[in-house]
Amino acid sequence: MVSLLVVLSVSFLLGSIPSSLWVGQIFHKTDIRTQGSGNLGTTNAFRILGWKSGVSVLVLDFMKGFAASFWVSLYAFEIGNGPIAPPGWEADAFLKITCGLMAVVGHMFPIFANFKGGKGAATACGMLFGIEPISISISSVVFIAITFSTRYVSLASITASFIYPISLVIMRYGFGYYVDGSIIIFATFIAAGIIYKHKSNIRRLLDGNENRVNLYGKKNK
Ligand code: G3P
Repeated sequence: MVSLLVVLSVSFLLGSIPSSLWVGQIFHKTDIRTQGSGNLGTTNAFRILGWKSGVSVLVLDFMKGFAASFWVSLYAFEIGNGPIAPPGWEADAFLKITCGLMAVVGHMFPIFANFKGGKGAATACGMLFGIEPISISISSVVFIAITFSTRYVSLASITASFIYPISLVIMRYGFGYYVDGSIIIFATFIAAGIIYKHKSNIRRLLDGNENRVNLYGKKNK
């Protein structure tokens, strides 16, 4: 039990690394919380710091989630925390999803940035890729299609998050593909959390004044 708490804490600390803040401060002497949307995430990093730093932040935020759900959970499983999963839930899947979830929570509420973090899309994507790559790939295709057709990254994130748990249900019940029940339940919570964190974007989308990204320009304030 103690070691489970340790791996969950490690996952939270991993997720808490504020990549966009630190990349901005170290390489650009810029605090992106004071510019653009003010969000500590990939989109605002692209917007304020340019594409090279944007890609770096994307990779780092993605890897936080992937590392927690793939490597940290694997370690937890090996040191014997598997049996701690609730009855009827697959231990491996349960550990993957709880470690990954802690990384997403850390990203949203980072201990290293006064608990004000990003909206979790890139970290959740990494985490879910470490768990079940097929449906997250479907969501990623939807994300890319909406981003390029509308230039609203927020709309792409919200839609991709919304369809993710639905695609898991379709895979399990429609195509008989094995997806553990714990993954569907937690994925629903994660999607709801990401959509909730986009509440200011949803307001701006409805008001018609959401920021579009400049996909081909350098920086887009
Ligand atoms: O995932 C974040 C993105 O959807 C919106 O970011 O900076 O435009 O609020 P931003």
